[in-house]
Amino acid sequence: MSGNDTQDKRQVEIKARRMAFDLDEPMREYAIENNSLISTFFYALSAMFPEGERFFIHSVRHYRDQVKDPVLKEQIRGFIGQEAHHGHSHEGLNDKLVGMGFPVDKIVAVMDSRVKFLKKFSPERQLAVTVAMEHFTATLAEQILENPEYYANIDPTLRKMLIWHAVEEIEHKAVAFDVYRQFVNNEFMRKRVMVLAVGSLLFRLAKYQRMLLKAKKHRPSWKEWKQAFHFFWNKEHGMMRHTLKALLPFFKTGFHPWDIDQFELIDGWQERFPDVAELQM
Ligand SMILES: [Fe+2]
Ligand SMILES: [Fe+2]
Repeated sequence: MSGNDTQDKRQVEIKARRMAFDLDEPMREYAIENNSLISTFFYALSAMFPEGERFFIHSVRHYRDQVKDPVLKEQIRGFIGQEAHHGHSHEGLNDKLVGMGFPVDKIVAVMDSRVKFLKKFSPERQLAVTVAMEHFTATLAEQILENPEYYANIDPTLRKMLIWHAVEEIEHKAVAFDVYRQFVNNEFMRKRVMVLAVGSLLFRLAKYQRMLLKAKKHRPSWKEWKQAFHFFWNKEHGMMRHTLKALLPFFKTGFHPWDIDQFELIDGWQERFPDVAELQM
């Protein structure tokens, strides 16, 4: 990719879209592949999003008034709008999950105290956490947009929400990073915080999944374990295998999120996913 290309992609429009997801339709208990392990992974993520994304907004907002560059200023506006809508939509999904007997509200309460704890750190470190998590979500988003087989057998509303969220995560993937580079620019902290943040995230996801399954008194069958292992770890398109692998470039000094060209994943998404695009209000 040439320098000019990189520049263009950094200028990608970050548009906050309000979406009309149909959350009234009943959803299968285990909405992805009828598999409790795969489904609760996404339920746990959804439980973490609203508080997590509000924290991301908080950490960027701290620097907003010091930003002079009009392009970055506008991108911050788009980032805040997008993350706010994500939180709101996932809250709708979370309410639905609570109604289905998954104690997602308990996870939200744990996340609330976790975020309060994170807010005690310096603004620099808080922003480094956001930068790390934004890179993680963008790599997860890449997996979701690149592999339609992930949602061959998934609840239609959950599928649409994941696709929309994935597109916007890629659109705004460099915003917190650009703020960090301008005001903090500590490469050692950036890398160190990534290790800690991903470690903590994976630990929490597993813990929350256990909570959800325990509340349902559900013991995953051997078949479910096998299928979930394949879904997350198979060589061709295992979601976690490829997400973790894609984190590696982040550890290069001088790395920038748009060094990873994910532009074609979001360019023309409305044509590729017309049933998602039509939900825009
Ligand atoms: Fe988000
Ligand atoms: Fe994000």
